[in-house]
Amino acid sequence: MGIIMQESLPFDNPPHGGQTIRSRLARFVKIRPFSVSGNIPMTTRKILVTSALPYANGSIHLGHLVEYIQTDIWVRFQKMRGHECHYVCADDTHGTPIMLRAEKEGVTPEQLIARVWQEHYDDFAAFHVEFDNYGSTNSNENKACAQDIYRTLKANGLIEVRSIEQFYDPVKNMFLPDRFIKGECPKCHAKDQYGDNCEVCGAAYAPTELINPFSAVSGAKPELRNSDHYFFKLSADTCQQFLRKWTRGGSLQQEAANKMQEWLGAEGETKLTDWDISRDAPYFGFEIPDAPGKYFYVWLDAPVGYMGSFKQLCAKTGIAFDDYWKPDSEAELYHFIGKDILYFHALFWPAMLQHAGFRTPTKLFAHGFLTVNGEKMSKSRGTFITARSYVDHIKNTEYLRYYYASKLNGTMEDLDLSLDDFVAKVNSDLIGKYINIASRCAGFISKKFDGKLGNLDAAASAEFKSAFESNEIARCYEERDYARALREIMRLADVANQYIAEKAPWTMAKQDGKEPELHEVCSTALTLFRDLTLYLKPVLPELAAQVESFLNIEPIAWSGTWQALPAGHTINTYQHLATRLDPKLIEAMVAANQESLKPMTESHSQQRHAEAQQPSPQSSPASGRGSDGEKPSSTLEPIAETINIDDFGKIDLRVARIVNAEHVVGADKLIQLTLDIGEEKTRNVFAGIKSAYDPEKLKGRMTVMVANLAPRKMKFGLSEGMVLAASGETPGLFILSPDDGAQPGMRIK
Ligand code: 2FM
Ligand code: ZN
Repeated sequence: MGIIMQESLPFDNPPHGGQTIRSRLARFVKIRPFSVSGNIPMTTRKILVTSALPYANGSIHLGHLVEYIQTDIWVRFQKMRGHECHYVCADDTHGTPIMLRAEKEGVTPEQLIARVWQEHYDDFAAFHVEFDNYGSTNSNENKACAQDIYRTLKANGLIEVRSIEQFYDPVKNMFLPDRFIKGECPKCHAKDQYGDNCEVCGAAYAPTELINPFSAVSGAKPELRNSDHYFFKLSADTCQQFLRKWTRGGSLQQEAANKMQEWLGAEGETKLTDWDISRDAPYFGFEIPDAPGKYFYVWLDAPVGYMGSFKQLCAKTGIAFDDYWKPDSEAELYHFIGKDILYFHALFWPAMLQHAGFRTPTKLFAHGFLTVNGEKMSKSRGTFITARSYVDHIKNTEYLRYYYASKLNGTMEDLDLSLDDFVAKVNSDLIGKYINIASRCAGFISKKFDGKLGNLDAAASAEFKSAFESNEIARCYEERDYARALREIMRLADVANQYIAEKAPWTMAKQDGKEPELHEVCSTALTLFRDLTLYLKPVLPELAAQVESFLNIEPIAWSGTWQALPAGHTINTYQHLATRLDPKLIEAMVAANQESLKPMTESHSQQRHAEAQQPSPQSSPASGRGSDGEKPSSTLEPIAETINIDDFGKIDLRVARIVNAEHVVGADKLIQLTLDIGEEKTRNVFAGIKSAYDPEKLKGRMTVMVANLAPRKMKFGLSEGMVLAASGETPGLFILSPDDGAQPGMRIK
């Protein structure tokens, strides 16, 4: 059944006009008279939509979901409007953190990213985020696109090779990204600070300024070494001129456009420097053509991943790739992103596309960060909640979609998930206002009228009809002002509830002779309910499908003219559509996340900082998409069960001198230590510290060992104790050292 038919909207037409839309269309379509002025028939737009690619080394959490839910709602809306809209995304799989994490887990990077891909895919599906293709940046399609872009940039004289000096880890034999270098802050002297900025005083500096720098991977003292790097010449006139124009051309939100002008500098000024797009081996990524041992920096092939994923969709469906990516494409291209990655998307990406012979994005839609209860997500408060944990506790993921939608307004403002407000809104709006309409009226249709609908109360539905014809709600969706759309939808729900309350069908049902009116009231209410379902469908796709099945109608489309559910139409028996959200479920979820204090997997913004080399004002560690950049204290492993002093006394800890240290043939992780603990004979200990230490550098060092651990027979010999080392979620392994003056054999109490 064609349920709603509607003339089209001015904003349903592509933004690349030329002639007026009406005159362009008039040649093809007969424009029918319509009561709302300015409405013209709809053309089918070709739209390609992306969300930022999540890193393949961390779980999807509620912070990420803001963006994917925001995008998915928009895509569903466009599809309901009848447009040819494609939504692609992929896992962002390359870079040093992923390589190191795989190594730590004892798997290949390919195995790690395959596992995480499945987790991400399942999480998105659970939240009804429906991609047309979900790929990986480690795909052949992406490699071909990245290499193609690189070759064209090179042919256009925009790639330059320069030698740069960088910190190198002599134990791991690798150059270190800034985030993998630690040391003392040169400003406030706080210890253990990252190579790019101090988390204590906020100072930004170069890693070479750190006092006593060390590699966070191995603990070794880094050395400065030179290496050739490949640069994309953003400082070239052609890039500067293009970006000045593009960033002012309406593709950015005003706030973002202003920021870009700041970053670009005044006319004539060259503030934008060349972009280092290469990394040295070992690196998990794509090798640069004709540059053995040099790899594309993760941020080079990440946005190209939009193309790579779309290419896969084209292969599956027969869509012509060029229709969407050639320079004069009539298709629209939108990237939904967090405001912290604007720099990459508003400067590097369009400049790359432009100079590699592709079209540039129609618009970037940047959103703000998520806070929970007004604060940054926090493990210690139990508000760092993964998608999986939400599903395990709350189950209904459309509640979160509804809540986020009620807060999203298309700006870059941060969004707060207030957990009390979440419960209140779901229960009062969704259940109390929307579901209530069907639950109060459907039973009478089934019981008294054999499931058949009656006539419409035209007066009662007039407001709904005119709301539909005004297109206001559609306009709000188009502009990504979902908050406003939902306010209007809930206002209409109030109108419907008021009508039901005034008519009181439950009273009529008990009165003789009131059947016709009862029939009309309940039928009208169900038509209004159908309208509300239409409007909520981009946000609540699963619930809408249940309603369609209950109302026994075809999937509701958002086009054509407004129609009531016809008299005589048979609906199905009403089944419970949704239940109230119990605040206890939220409490349990928060408690579970608080109690478990699971060590944080390398998260989204952490990697961004590990890899990012171009600072962006919003990208403080605390401000990654979804505020997932936690301080180390909150990534603490749970403290073990309490013991008493006698328990502790059983462990005999001694100061030990490392007399000798050697590699163990055939062992990946072990170093063989000869330890002097003041006894007549030295001890032989196999320690799993090879990833972090060069045996040569251990000789002569003092450390700490457990001296009364039962000897253990290993494949390589007898291990007579254990040395102590610290490790956490961030890379690195650190053996302990006593203070100067401690002698071998001294007991640690
Ligand atoms: O910031 C991030 O999470 C990146 N993985 C986003 C990449 S978006 C695009 F460029 F691929
Ligand atoms: Zn400092």
